[in-house]
Amino acid sequence: MQMAKRIEDLKVVDNKRINNDVFILELSGNNYFPELKPGQFVQARIDGSPGTFLRRPLSIHDVDYSGNKIKLLVQIAGKGTETLSGLNKGDTLNIIYPLGNSFTLPRPDDHVLIVGGGCGAAPLLFLGKYLKSNGYSPDILLGFRNSERIIGYEEYSEIGRVFLTTEDGSRGEKGFVTDHSVLAGTGYNHIYCCGPDAMMKAVAKYCLKRGITCEVSLENLMACGIGACLCCVVDTVKGNLCTCIDGPVFNITDLKW
Ligand SMILES: Cc1cc2nc3c(=O)[nH]c(=O)nc-3n(C[C@H](O)[C@H](O)[C@H](O)COP(=O)(O)OP(=O)(O)OC[C@H]3O[C@@H](n4cnc5c(N)ncnc54)[C@H](O)[C@@H]3O)c2cc1C
Ligand code: FES
Repeated sequence: MQMAKRIEDLKVVDNKRINNDVFILELSGNNYFPELKPGQFVQARIDGSPGTFLRRPLSIHDVDYSGNKIKLLVQIAGKGTETLSGLNKGDTLNIIYPLGNSFTLPRPDDHVLIVGGGCGAAPLLFLGKYLKSNGYSPDILLGFRNSERIIGYEEYSEIGRVFLTTEDGSRGEKGFVTDHSVLAGTGYNHIYCCGPDAMMKAVAKYCLKRGITCEVSLENLMACGIGACLCCVVDTVKGNLCTCIDGPVFNITDLKW
C-alpha cells in the first residue's frame, strides 16, 4: 500500500560540507515524521533558482525520529544541487515525501553486505541502521575515488565491519568495490547496492553468477516523482516500470541487465 504523501517546509538545521562537491543537509520538521523506509526519497523544491523548475529527487540519508530530523547527502551535479549547497541554517526546504518503495529485509539467517559507491551511498546509511535495528549485522563495502572522498566511515563503523576500496589505493584496497577481497568468498546471501550504474551492474553480475539476492537503487532521471510523466521508466521483466513509484529499489532479477 502506498503511504500518504506529505508536502512540507523543513528547517535547515545544518549544512555540512564533506568535500568540494558533497554536503549533508540536516533538516527538522514541525510535525512528527511518519515511518520512513530506507530507499525512499524526497522531491526537493529548488527556491531561488529560476531556471530550476522541477523538484530534485534526493534519498533519505538518515532519520532521527526523536529529534524530528532527517539528513540528505547531496553531491553537486548542476544548478539545482548547487543552489541547495548554499542553504544556510534557518533557511527552509520544501519537500514532498516519502516517495518510492524501499529495500526489503533479508531472511533471518542471511549474511548481508551493503555496497556503496561514492555519493550513491546516500540511502545506505539509513538502510544499515534499519538493518541493525532489525537484528541484522551487515558488513559494509564502500568504494571511493581516493581517501579524501571517503564519506561516512565512522557512522558505518557503528553498524558493522567496514571494508574500503579507493581507485588510487590511498586507503583500503586499491581498485573498484568488485575487486575487494571480501567478495572473493561466497559467504553473502543478500547484497544491497547503490552507486554509479556501472558499479551496480558489476555487483549485479557478481550476484547473479552466485545466486545471491541483490537489490539496487536506481537514480534514473525524474521529473514528477509520482508516476505521472513516465520519464523515469525502466525496462524490466515485468514490463516498463516507473522508477519513482515501482522503484527506486529493484531486485536485479527484475531488471534486464
Ligand atoms: C531516486 C533518486 C534518489 C537520488 N538521491 C540522491 C542523493 O541522495 N544525493 C544526490 O546527490 N543525488 C541523488 N540523486 C541524483 C540527483 O537527483 C541529481 O543529481 C539531481 O537531480 C541533479 O540536479 P541538478 O539541478 O543539480 O543538476 P541538473 O542540471 O539537473 O543535471 C546536471 C547533470 O546531472 C545529471 N543528472 C540529473 N539528474 C540525475 C539523476 N537522477 N541521476 C544521475 N544524473 C543526473 C544530468 O544528466 C546532468 O548531466 C537521486 C536521484 C534519484 C532518481
Ligand atoms: S518521474 Fe514522472 S513518472 Fe517517474
